[in-house]
Amino acid sequence: MRICFATHNKNKVNEIKKLISSEYTILTLDDLNEKKEIEETEETLEGNAFLKAEYIFNKYNIPTFADDSGLEVTALGGKPGVYSARYAGIKKNDKDNINLLLKNLKGKQDRSAQFKTVIAFIDNNNQKLFQGITKGHIIEKPRGTKGFGYDSVFIPDQFLIDDIQKTFAEIDIENKNKLSSRSKAVNKFVLFLNIMN
Ligand code: IMP
Repeated sequence: MRICFATHNKNKVNEIKKLISSEYTILTLDDLNEKKEIEETEETLEGNAFLKAEYIFNKYNIPTFADDSGLEVTALGGKPGVYSARYAGIKKNDKDNINLLLKNLKGKQDRSAQFKTVIAFIDNNNQKLFQGITKGHIIEKPRGTKGFGYDSVFIPDQFLIDDIQKTFAEIDIENKNKLSSRSKAVNKFVLFLNIMN
């Protein structure tokens, strides 16, 4: 069965291909020759994930899923959230985003935060949302060189055991994938596909 992942992001595609059964052929926006960067105009992760999946499903009539993720910081009322990529401006610069986040958190006691990922899936019979959450906290200075986005300032709760306190940018991608909000949402989605099949 053919199924479209509404993204141009090759890393995400490779990650999901490893998890989804080979009965499914994953097509990307590049495979469909869809050049448009679908604009994320909604105010929630759910809204944006759904908007992207719906656009492609309506245009190509292929079962389609799309994702959206963000960092939600408690002391900032859940910000940057849906605006995580462009928190410090439309340049979508990771370093600027981190600097602004640390500035806005200066002096705040509560540094708890969570990554949230939403996957929306649409076919002729279903409109489904799958969610993954990874809880942790934001440190005061970036640490580590791996990963992307806010990884260098985020310590997942699972790495707070004893004296091990590693940011997502200090652990291997394989270990990050085991804990990440994206992998949790993907696993729920894969389970759904397997049951549906
Ligand atoms: P996207 O929806 O996956 O493109 O994520 C939107 C933005 O959220 C990214 O540009 C990052 O700033 C942030 N983000 C999402 N997932 C992660 C992650 O696993 N680590 C660090 N930052 C992330």
